[in-house]
Amino acid sequence: NFALPGLIDCHVHFREPGLTHKEDFLTGSMAAAKGGITTILDMPNTIPPTTTLAALEEKRRLAAKSIVNYGFNFGASPGNISDIKKAKNIAAVKLYMDYTTGDMKIDDLEFVADVFKASKITIIHAEDISIQNAIEIIIKNKIKNKLHVAHVSSEKELQYAKQNKIKKQVTVEVTPHHLFMNDKDLQHLGSFAEMKPRLKTENDQKALWLGIQNGIVDAIASDHAPHLKEEKEQANYPFGVPGVETMLPLLLDAFNKNRISLPTIQKLCCENPAGIFKIKNKGIIKEGYDADLVVADLDKRQAVRNEDLLTKCKWSPFEGKILKGWPVMTIVNGNVVFNDGKIFDIKAKEVQYAT
Ligand code: DOR
Ligand code: ZN
Repeated sequence: NFALPGLIDCHVHFREPGLTHKEDFLTGSMAAAKGGITTILDMPNTIPPTTTLAALEEKRRLAAKSIVNYGFNFGASPGNISDIKKAKNIAAVKLYMDYTTGDMKIDDLEFVADVFKASKITIIHAEDISIQNAIEIIIKNKIKNKLHVAHVSSEKELQYAKQNKIKKQVTVEVTPHHLFMNDKDLQHLGSFAEMKPRLKTENDQKALWLGIQNGIVDAIASDHAPHLKEEKEQANYPFGVPGVETMLPLLLDAFNKNRISLPTIQKLCCENPAGIFKIKNKGIIKEGYDADLVVADLDKRQAVRNEDLLTKCKWSPFEGKILKGWPVMTIVNGNVVFNDGKIFDIKAKEVQYAT
């Protein structure tokens, strides 16, 4: 067995408030704990969206039922710059430059610049050329704040994010679904493999893995986006796939296939997310740091099975895949919350950030 710092998943959608038929902070956090994740950062595209101080406080109240540590990303929305400046203890501001669940897309590029100026770190959902546009706005306005590009999915997006004058200001995140699937998987999975950004070609998938090897990729995050099976079966299905329970098993399986090292997993899933969002006392195993740990059995071979999943949506695009390497015990703030297949409902805490 092997111990890692608990994973910090800096991109999840736990759907509370407003969409709790898909997930809530208890079910989402139980699924995360089972997946070896000890801290999550939630996204603002809930109902109502987390774009006001009142909505942030309400989400804070609701998240208290989480059994993994949690933090919040505040949403950018026209006219909310003063709330962005006032929001207390947030990881980052999330800004949507392209359409996805929640319809929070911003078209006004002056407002985009204002958000970049107001927030020390902005996470963008930007696809393809929108990434380049974001970089140009930062250069043109001589903005010094940081930019985190969520779910980079193609070779071109990786280039836009990292081949420019400000690449040191920019961090890049990739998801397990873009690493372990490509557009060929759409043939058998259909809408169950449809997310934003869409799965790309095998060549793009290779570019993301190369980015990991070259150190161009800074973080891996699940973009856990649960939707019910019945919703996915509809003609106008919503975009997104669940991911917190399968991210670490997929990566450990990749380790067993010599595709990634354990130190790289630790860097991209623990240390770097803590560093990018300045989360206090997390991401490494060290005296004085929080006792957030995951113990993995690197030799355990098991199939991903829908019936085993704790996410409320109860399906995974990886169902049926036999993976070698599974988390067997998860410790949050010194408390065992997952062991031997069982969940222990011990409440966790909101994370704090260095300023
Ligand atoms: O596929 C996605 N689903 N991409 C996103 O950006 C949002 C997410 C969701 O909230 O469903
Ligand atoms: Zn997302």
